[in-house]
Amino acid sequence: MSSPARQRALAVGLAGALALVAALGGASAAAEGPTLAAAAARTGRQIGVAVAHDPLVREIAYGRLIAREFSSITPENELKWSPMAPAPEVVDDSRWETVLAAAAAAGQQVRGHTLLWDQQLPSWAVALPDAALLAAQRAHTERLLAATSGRIAVWDVVNEALEDDGSLSRTAMWRAGGERHLTDTFRTARQMAPEAKLFYNDYGVEGINPKSDGMFAVLRRWRAAGVPVDGVGLQCHLKAGEAPPVAQLRANIQRLGGLGLDVHLTEIDVQVRHLDGSDWGRDAVQARLLHQWVEACVAEPACTALTFWGLSDRHTWVDHAHGDDRPLLFDDELEPKLSYFAVRAALLGKPDPTCAVERLPEGGFDKGMGGWRASGGQGAVVEGPSGGPALRVSGRTATWQGPVRTVTDSVADGLPLRARAQVTVGPGGPAKVALTAHVIDGAGERFVPLAAGQAQPGRWTALEGALSIDLKAPVRSVELYVEGPPAGQELWLDGASLRVDCPAAAGAKVRP
Ligand code: XIL
Repeated sequence: MSSPARQRALAVGLAGALALVAALGGASAAAEGPTLAAAAARTGRQIGVAVAHDPLVREIAYGRLIAREFSSITPENELKWSPMAPAPEVVDDSRWETVLAAAAAAGQQVRGHTLLWDQQLPSWAVALPDAALLAAQRAHTERLLAATSGRIAVWDVVNEALEDDGSLSRTAMWRAGGERHLTDTFRTARQMAPEAKLFYNDYGVEGINPKSDGMFAVLRRWRAAGVPVDGVGLQCHLKAGEAPPVAQLRANIQRLGGLGLDVHLTEIDVQVRHLDGSDWGRDAVQARLLHQWVEACVAEPACTALTFWGLSDRHTWVDHAHGDDRPLLFDDELEPKLSYFAVRAALLGKPDPTCAVERLPEGGFDKGMGGWRASGGQGAVVEGPSGGPALRVSGRTATWQGPVRTVTDSVADGLPLRARAQVTVGPGGPAKVALTAHVIDGAGERFVPLAAGQAQPGRWTALEGALSIDLKAPVRSVELYVEGPPAGQELWLDGASLRVDCPAAAGAKVRP
């Protein structure tokens, strides 16, 4: 019982096992912890999800999960103008009424999305001359505010009015009504829905850039002029590897908070399909990003709510807008993903559980080869030098021969992994030992050295190194190799570990 693998297994066993259960997912694993709503409530925050009418009325599990996990909802399309006004003089409020009724039954707040936007306008309205469009838009806003009176906690009053350069858009309504039309809409909303918080909402304004600078200037001007704007929504449609640094998000939230505005993250999703690697690796990249972003929100007093733009990878607009992806917290079967656990941990002020997931069998070779094999010679699990089973590779005919294991299903571009192995050598004197990654991908075949050391016969040596590879599609295989001693000398492996490499105790310092 004294082998290093077992000591290590004991040391990390409990946390590791819990994290592994979590990573494997399953509604049961989710049920073991607090819901997202409960976790968010501990920080005094709302956590929301975009809800769509059709799955709500067709899939029982969809509505149930939304009611259980979230404290707020945003109708994904139902409060936009075109879905409720198919023709002039025709209004159909039934779809948003259904969504709002479900929210009321679940005790959830509603974010109303959206009063003024230049998209999803009825085609009959778009065909009107500018001035008539403006009048029709005004009438629609007033009618909708009256119809929803008392039921909307937060309105996205104006959506996406800024150009990328930070100037206000020159759209049809802008041409006819100018900035005045935007500020009038805020004033009308305040008058008719005095209980609602009134927000400006946009995309690409999460970090510090010309667009978010422009937004800041507009909002500062409006606040100074007494326009009733209470908050700003940062949509957060993110693409892994291209998202702004989280430090910029925090700086941006701080400057907006400095204007007296509440900040909501309103439409979070994270595309990962473009990353080279495995689905598990992509999910891990996403979970890490979301942990950092949710942690940032929790650390900033001005950031008071966050909403995911859809429930699951089966209910996401990203599939239609950008191509098949896996951008949300629940998978196609509504099972919680790594991102679910990462978000919950961030809300609870805990480190990212993704970092504790062990990708190789724990406890050494107690249960056989554990997916390892010999790259040459013969591999067998036998009693090791310090007792307990270990993997021995004998009959080696080249220095590179030794234990090898495929880890292709753990890698992804931008995912730093850390590999560890306990190795020793058989009789024959001290020998060089090394841990190497063997990569075959679109860039060809290469060997990446991870760690090297000197092993004394019969004494375990720890090899540990960072595995962060710039992968190129298609990723055919990634293997961990143990190698080094001269041909003929036995090479032993007691156990190995492969985990996401996270800064120590990331997240532990942030308190709500
Ligand atoms: C999207 C919906 O998710 C889709 O179902 C619809 O087809 C198009 O609109 N920014 C917004 C949201 O403010 O309203 C958009 O929602 C996504 C981008």
